[in-house]
Amino acid sequence: MAFKILVTSQKGGVGKSTLSANLVAYLSRSLGLAVTLIDWDPHGSSSNWLKQAPQVGAVIQHLALPVDQGGNRPIFEARLQMRRAASECDILVCDLTWSDSLAGELMFEFDMVLVPTSVSEIELAATSGFLSRHRWVFDSASPRRPMLVVCPTRVLNEQLNSDVFTKQRFPVSFMLAPPILEAQSARDLFERGYLMDAHDIGGESFREFGQAICAAREIRMAQTQQPRAPQVKLTERDASSHRVPLTPTKAGVLDTIPSSSQYSVLGRYRQRKIAEEKESVVNSRSLANMGVPEFLKRLARGNSAKL
Ligand SMILES: Nc1ncnc2c1ncn2[C@@H]1O[C@H](COP(=O)(O)OP(=O)(O)OP(=O)(O)O)[C@@H](O)[C@H]1O
Ligand SMILES: [Mg+2]
Repeated sequence: MAFKILVTSQKGGVGKSTLSANLVAYLSRSLGLAVTLIDWDPHGSSSNWLKQAPQVGAVIQHLALPVDQGGNRPIFEARLQMRRAASECDILVCDLTWSDSLAGELMFEFDMVLVPTSVSEIELAATSGFLSRHRWVFDSASPRRPMLVVCPTRVLNEQLNSDVFTKQRFPVSFMLAPPILEAQSARDLFERGYLMDAHDIGGESFREFGQAICAAREIRMAQTQQPRAPQVKLTERDASSHRVPLTPTKAGVLDTIPSSSQYSVLGRYRQRKIAEEKESVVNSRSLANMGVPEFLKRLARGNSAKL
């Protein structure tokens, strides 16, 4: 049975289509599985991206969903379209701008729901509202409850340190993906190439994001006791451009996830950045001026930083 991923948010312009197109390319190439995209965005951005950029072997469908009709029509239509597509692929990715007229039940059709959000206050508030309204889905006791992954997107370097994804703000069970950083390459590569091949912070952060989604998929598959996913298959190019192992579940991501309701699939990129910043702050101040208590406090904060 195909593994179904919904990429959605109610807010426009947060990076759903960029994420969808690039995730399809990443999964298709790095896992070597049959991946299908259903693009429900009327603009067709993610499907256009995959159609115009070098082929990755994914099936691309740009379909209409009558989201504004209300009632059961959109959900029936979505189920039908998904059933057809899922019968011929291993992974199905759907790009959808959520609308209040859609019934939350639609989310139960998916194994994983990715919600991209930037970390600006206005978008965090919108994301928090969206997730709170659908808390009954993500906190439901149903075994069909989808795994929720909050995906920070368009994140600026100086925002990496902010710890905004708190339980207070998002009172729902979720995993936190490594951030996809704001980068010119994400705009330049539209219809031309993929972020996974970019040699900049955009590419680096996206590859790490892709690994985390693969890890989260394996967690979900283990939870639902589906057959294990095949070993991550690397192309030569991937292998040479990565210094970290590309078998995320074996790399300890799974081992370190606590059994609490709020999970974090944190990025090595983010951890390294924070560590570097902390080091430079400590180095930039004279230890003599700082005094021992302040120095120890900083050290303790550094060691116990909640990443
Ligand atoms: N990581 C990134 N860095 C820089 N720009 C980005 C990034 N991700 C997306 N963008 C830009 O942000 C804009 C919105 O992106 P995108 O179309 O993917 O969002 P969306 O959520 O699908 O929007 P819509 O709701 O209109 O469908 C585009 O101009 C895109 O190039
Ligand atoms: Mg879009």
